[in-house]
Amino acid sequence: MTILVTGGRGHVARAVVDGLLGAGERVRVASRDPEKAVLPDGVETVRADLSDPDTLPAALAGVTKVFLYADAKGVDGFVAAAEAAGAPHTVLLSTSSLTRENAENNPIAQMHAVVENRLRDSALPWTFLRPGTFATNTLQWAPAIRATGTVRAPYPQAHASAIHEADIADIAVRTFTEPGHEGKAYLLSGPESVTQQEQIECLSEAIGRKLRLEEVTPEEYRATLSRWGGNDFIDQLLEYLAMWDGKPMPVCPAYTELTGRRGRTYAQWAFDHAADFQPVG
Ligand SMILES: NC(=O)c1ccc[n+]([C@@H]2O[C@H](COP(=O)([O-])OP(=O)(O)OC[C@H]3O[C@@H](n4cnc5c(N)ncnc54)[C@H](OP(=O)(O)O)[C@@H]3O)[C@@H](O)[C@H]2O)c1
Repeated sequence: MTILVTGGRGHVARAVVDGLLGAGERVRVASRDPEKAVLPDGVETVRADLSDPDTLPAALAGVTKVFLYADAKGVDGFVAAAEAAGAPHTVLLSTSSLTRENAENNPIAQMHAVVENRLRDSALPWTFLRPGTFATNTLQWAPAIRATGTVRAPYPQAHASAIHEADIADIAVRTFTEPGHEGKAYLLSGPESVTQQEQIECLSEAIGRKLRLEEVTPEEYRATLSRWGGNDFIDQLLEYLAMWDGKPMPVCPAYTELTGRRGRTYAQWAFDHAADFQPVG
């Protein structure tokens, strides 16, 4: 019984691979560039691109379950190839943003909605994981922290109940290894709402170095973000920060309901990723 994990170089995919191997499952990792995927020794890899349907039959051969990254352009090809390969249970990495007000005006929500709808209309058993803000988003601060110890960002009191990728992976592993998760959608978040200022303090503690958050205007921040994404992405991010400025973000109960444990805090994530924020050399 082989489980295919797509998006092999992604943070969530890596955590899912570790979780499945820890649970004794056989894993095949698909990536557009498998040589660059950092994986445990001996893991089977396959070159596959969700946007290129010709690459999918080989990746899906003999597979009973799939961890799928959302790709709206590739989903028709994925569904056709997966149905032909015996309709594996497909666990989609979706987003909580498609459950929010105004989701119809949010391009990220819409992209994931296209994929969810196509899977719902397919012959594949499906489960949707709908996480909110990822803790890995704060890796965008790593270059500034490594270089100067100062992060320049707007809305220091903006909240996020940021989720550790290992928590998403825990839920993915359960949906693959326990019965009863087909046809379900799980909203996921971290266990507490923390501000950007508090996240910087967690990172200071994790790396043993005093860090500073210097407030800048949204327009100043926009200029520094251009290498992280297009205008749509930057508009969404600024709107999001403004929306949660001084306002705690609700915490979703699904992680604790499904695992019986509290999810990993942002402070834990900062310790787990301390090396990403340490000066090089
Ligand atoms: N960020 C958030 O707050 C958030 C919240 C909810 C949902 N999501 C969703 O989660 C997904 C992103 O998950 P993630 O954080 O695990 O993704 P990620 O780490 O940013 O990686 C995304 C994908 O990009 C490819 N990739 C990784 N490194 C690359 C590189 N150096 N060059 C080119 N391509 C590279 C990988 O696929 P290959 O190995 O195949 O190239 C990987 O699956 C998206 O669908 C997003 O909408 C995000």
